[in-house]
Amino acid sequence: MTGAAGFIGSTFVHLLQRDHSIVVLDKLTYAGRRENLPDGVELVVGAIEDRDLVLELTEGVDAVVNFAAESHVDRSIADQHAFARTHVIGTGVLLDAVRERGVARFLQVSTDEVYGSIEDGSFTESSPLDPSSPYSATKAGGDLLVSAHAHTYGIEALICRGSNNYGPRQYPEKLIPLMILNALNGDPLPVYGDGRQVRNWLYVEDFCGAILAVLEGGRAGEAYNVGGPDECENLEVVRRIVELTGADESLVEHVTDRPGHDRRYSLSSAKLREELGWEAEVGFDEGLRRTVDWYRDNEPWWGPIRSGEYREYYERHYGRALG
Ligand code: NAD
Ligand code: TYD
Repeated sequence: MTGAAGFIGSTFVHLLQRDHSIVVLDKLTYAGRRENLPDGVELVVGAIEDRDLVLELTEGVDAVVNFAAESHVDRSIADQHAFARTHVIGTGVLLDAVRERGVARFLQVSTDEVYGSIEDGSFTESSPLDPSSPYSATKAGGDLLVSAHAHTYGIEALICRGSNNYGPRQYPEKLIPLMILNALNGDPLPVYGDGRQVRNWLYVEDFCGAILAVLEGGRAGEAYNVGGPDECENLEVVRRIVELTGADESLVEHVTDRPGHDRRYSLSSAKLREELGWEAEVGFDEGLRRTVDWYRDNEPWWGPIRSGEYREYYERHYGRALG
């Protein structure tokens, strides 16, 4: 499993470690943390673009699941280079190794953002890819390489496209953990533009359940959408966080909008439901409550983050210091 010292991959490892022997390859960027992984799981620190290392690690493995990514849209707008390297070059290196080593299954973890923004209705797997940020454009590049390899070489490669995830251990640059930590610490809650953008929220354990179902039972060469059960405007998400944390509503502040900001994401999960019987189990109210409780109880996890690289990022991006 690559990139599994990050948010979603580490959740996947926690869910699977009992029944599987897992090796994690992770570069430990700002978002990757050794302590996200359960004890006893082998972590190799390195990059998926490292051909020799990837060839060495794929010998004798049954499956490769690729979570490795630069995952934040705002950072891709500030500097795109690491995004293309990891999502396109890195995915290509993994695909070469899967082919050379005869690995039985390869699963690419991807995102609804490759389809772009949609005003009404929901994207299906046959919707055209129309990404609008450097993050989503490079993720789409990786997805297309995966499909091309399944088509050209007949490898058993699959893609899972998830909607916005949230839950424990998410790096606080993303909307939900950022707002929870700022609310708990009495810092301003920076809403981009009018805050009426819509996201389709998916609890991270539900996404991981879908990834496992696709890895085990999905049809080779296919993509599967994994949409959350609820959609919500950003302002409403922030309002609920204010309520759950008991913060003061006057902390909410509208700030300059993100350039090229996608207005709405929405995925249809009908294919996954019909072929593999997957359903999301955690609704947004329940998931958000669990997530707020987790951050409230885990200051030893987020305390060092808020005083490290993140502080500089925050100042650079929001033009102000954390309190
Ligand atoms: P994350 O930023 O928390 O973790 C990414 C991990 O990848 C980190 O541990 C990092 O160290 C590692 N990494 C980065 N570049 C690497 C490289 N070149 N080689 C090896 N490791 C590298 O991200 P996440 O939120 O856990 O996302 C995981 C995957 O899920 C990504 O592919 C992302 O595009 C996708 N996804 C995320 C969301 C979301 O809402 N977070 C939604 C849908 C899909
Ligand atoms: P984000 O968590 O970055 O995920 P994505 O851009 O991949 O959907 O952002 C979710 C939404 O929240 C998006 O519409 C941008 C908005 N947002 C804010 O309003 N303020 C913030 O400080 C952040 C990080 C995001």
